[in-house]
Amino acid sequence: MRVTIFGASGLLGKELMRHWHGDELVGLGSKDADIRDANRVRDAVEKSCPDWIVLSAAYTNVDDCESHPDLAFAVNRDGPINVGKAAKQVGAKLMFLSSDYVFDGKKTSPYESDDERNPQSVYGRSKAEAEVRLFEVLPEVCIARTSWLFGTGGKCFPDTILKLAASRPAVDVVSDQRGDPTYSVDLAKAIIELCRKNASGIVHVTNAGDCSWFEFAREIVKGAGLATEVHPVSTQQMARPAPRPAHSVLSPKSLRQYGVAMPTWQDALQRYLLERKN
Ligand SMILES: NC(=O)c1ccc[n+]([C@@H]2O[C@H](COP(=O)([O-])OP(=O)(O)OC[C@H]3O[C@@H](n4cnc5c(N)ncnc54)[C@H](OP(=O)(O)O)[C@@H]3O)[C@@H](O)[C@H]2O)c1
Repeated sequence: MRVTIFGASGLLGKELMRHWHGDELVGLGSKDADIRDANRVRDAVEKSCPDWIVLSAAYTNVDDCESHPDLAFAVNRDGPINVGKAAKQVGAKLMFLSSDYVFDGKKTSPYESDDERNPQSVYGRSKAEAEVRLFEVLPEVCIARTSWLFGTGGKCFPDTILKLAASRPAVDVVSDQRGDPTYSVDLAKAIIELCRKNASGIVHVTNAGDCSWFEFAREIVKGAGLATEVHPVSTQQMARPAPRPAHSVLSPKSLRQYGVAMPTWQDALQRYLLERKN
């Protein structure tokens, strides 16, 4: 199989490049092919002639998206349309990475893959619109929604908490937002498996189990053997530019249909902490 990865230099992209064995890989960063440029995307796809394209590239700074909506929609919605059209032209399958932020977070049970989208932020809207447009361009597309991504390949929540915890006696963390932390290594392995199983439609891909950011932070500090106190605070107390869903737990049902099982986030966190130390 020939595989082309857009966003190969990102948190997930690095793990896809590291763990994808036995197939021919081409990894592209924004300097190789800016996905906003339809011609460059088409040239890159024609040159690599893939069976599968994994589109992990995105403008992922959720708060900055609020003040740069044009850039957010250009990268996160129009970029995927360019990639979708190029995939169609060469007959490649497309795996698009999307987000739990396509939901409003008002549901109190886990979101199923066919639940209605109702994004609250610019980032969420740009991802939701990309999903809708991609189904029009390429009905067989696979959309993998993930959440709360962490890993050693870039900036992430556990890294921020550990850096803060190293220099402070206590950290304040939001306790009224719930989601599924997801380790980039486990996500990469699941994405590889889904491609090999010819997945299509919307699939929710996260580590098993859910928690609040506060509970996640407490586990991070404990796992690292630090004595730093973690204090729960409300979303209101920690105002951020982009609204976040209060409850964006994603149901694993759509993933189980492909026979893919994910480790718990607690197990994933232990492996992340070990990897970070080495
Ligand atoms: N991080 C999360 O918590 C989270 C949660 C849910 C969903 N997701 C989704 O999961 C996917 C992977 O996220 P991630 O955290 O791995 O992202 P990331 O670390 O921020 O990496 C983003 C990647 O996109 C590339 N990129 C950015 N702008 C581009 C452009 N205009 N043209 C081409 N490439 C561009 C970057 O390339 P350069 O480095 O070369 O600029 C980089 O490789 C994304 O689609 C994201 O929306 C992430």
